[in-house]
Amino acid sequence: MEIKCDKCILRGWKKSDIESLAENANNHRIAVNMRDLFPHPYTIGDAKTWIDITNNDHTKSNFAITVKDKAVGGIGLALGEDIEKISAEVGYWLGEKYWGKGITSSALNGIVNYGFNDLGLKRIFAKPLEHNTASRRVLEKNGFQLEGILKRSVLKEGKIYNQALYAATK
Ligand SMILES: CC(C)(COP(=O)(O)OP(=O)(O)OC[C@H]1O[C@@H](n2cnc3c(N)ncnc32)[C@H](O)[C@@H]1OP(=O)(O)O)[C@@H](O)C(=O)NCCC(=O)NCCS
Repeated sequence: MEIKCDKCILRGWKKSDIESLAENANNHRIAVNMRDLFPHPYTIGDAKTWIDITNNDHTKSNFAITVKDKAVGGIGLALGEDIEKISAEVGYWLGEKYWGKGITSSALNGIVNYGFNDLGLKRIFAKPLEHNTASRRVLEKNGFQLEGILKRSVLKEGKIYNQALYAATK
């Protein structure tokens, strides 16, 4: 399964991505904006574990963001269950060397089209930390609308933060 985007290709994680994944993901500037599930430091062992998890996941909704077939980031849809099965939460990160080139915006466009057109989703949402301007911009550039601020909703590295709730609907 491959999703061709303007500036990258999204594809399933492969064992050969282990080194590139660990190299790009091992960055506190990334981890500080992610769930605690995203380890820091990010070791080769963590990369192996992540690739095994995604390869065993029947939903096949986690992708490597690749540039010239090098896995430099990740993007995925966490599919809702039960009556929320028409909704999914999108999450993403990109290696710092590649920031600011529109790669994640293009990846988000690709996965949103896949979610709406191939998975039959009606709602895709994201909850960046309120101060995560780059992520909010990526969502806004893709037509996501701000639905509200989730006050004091997360504890990250010992501090409480607000999240901004964004969604796109079909
Ligand atoms: C968020 C992230 C994925 C963005 O990736 P990217 O490929 O650099 O994103 P893009 O280049 O597509 O777009 C970034 C936009 O944010 C803007 N931006 C970046 N930093 C900014 C800042 N500090 N203030 C204002 N705007 C900022 C860029 O100018 C760009 O907007 P533009 O195209 O209008 O100029 C990347 O920064 C990242 O991995 N961050 C850490 C992990 C993370 O936050 N993940 C999301 C969790 S919700």
